[in-house]
Amino acid sequence: MTKLAYLHEPGVLQNLRCRFDINEIYTYTGGILIAINPFQRLPHLYENRVMEKYKGASVGELSPHPFAIADSAYRQMIKEQISQAILVSGESGAGKTESTKMLMQYLAFMGGRNNNTGERSVEQKVLESNPVLEAFGNAKTVRNNNSSRFGKFVEIQFDGRGRISGAAIRTYLLERSRVCQVSDPERNYHCFYMLCAAPPEVKVSLSFNNSHLV
Ligand SMILES: Nc1ncnc2c1ncn2[C@@H]1O[C@H](COP(=O)(O)OP(=O)(O)OP(=O)(O)O)[C@@H](O)[C@H]1O
Ligand SMILES: [Mg+2]
Repeated sequence: MTKLAYLHEPGVLQNLRCRFDINEIYTYTGGILIAINPFQRLPHLYENRVMEKYKGASVGELSPHPFAIADSAYRQMIKEQISQAILVSGESGAGKTESTKMLMQYLAFMGGRNNNTGERSVEQKVLESNPVLEAFGNAKTVRNNNSSRFGKFVEIQFDGRGRISGAAIRTYLLERSRVCQVSDPERNYHCFYMLCAAPPEVKVSLSFNNSHLV
């Protein structure tokens, strides 16, 4: 973006559109990564061999990618020995949740331990926390079928050798009114529908009875 002759809004938008049209959904503007939601699965962008490629490459050397941002933060942390933060922002449906998963996937890849004990590793547990958080905090809205109705601060902790040692997630400002008041076509939190579809024995154990629903 910074190579544009004129850095004004029409130029920026045109550049993003041209890149999007050739399936380049990521663009750098200085040290910031802009992501345009492709609204389709692009699995080739997030494979293991792509993560291998970004390992140690400096930002700008390869195509813009969330892995490059995560790699730069990881290396900076190792070099400077201080915590790093990645801020993901954008309007509803822009792709923040999906982008955050890519960042976490890469950090888990870099900080993963080879464990052959058969137990689930810390990084696996960190990645597996996402579906649980989404079940209780995401809901369908008019803007996004999987809209996060809360903000979150994810802290991934590393030991002195750059291996993941733990993680903490602080969520804030959950839209609580959605639990008892939903306006059509929006929906309640995903966990509510999961519960409705749960096997009878689970429902009985939770004293959940569909017949109470109107
Ligand atoms: N990189 C991507 N590749 C494929 N699909 C994507 C990508 N980013 C977003 N999407 C699609 O767009 C949908 C909305 O994205 P996401 O939930 O990440 O938005 P958000 O910015 O977190 O919105 P909200 O603020 O409402 O939580 C996803 O469910 C997914 O279908
Ligand atoms: Mg979200």
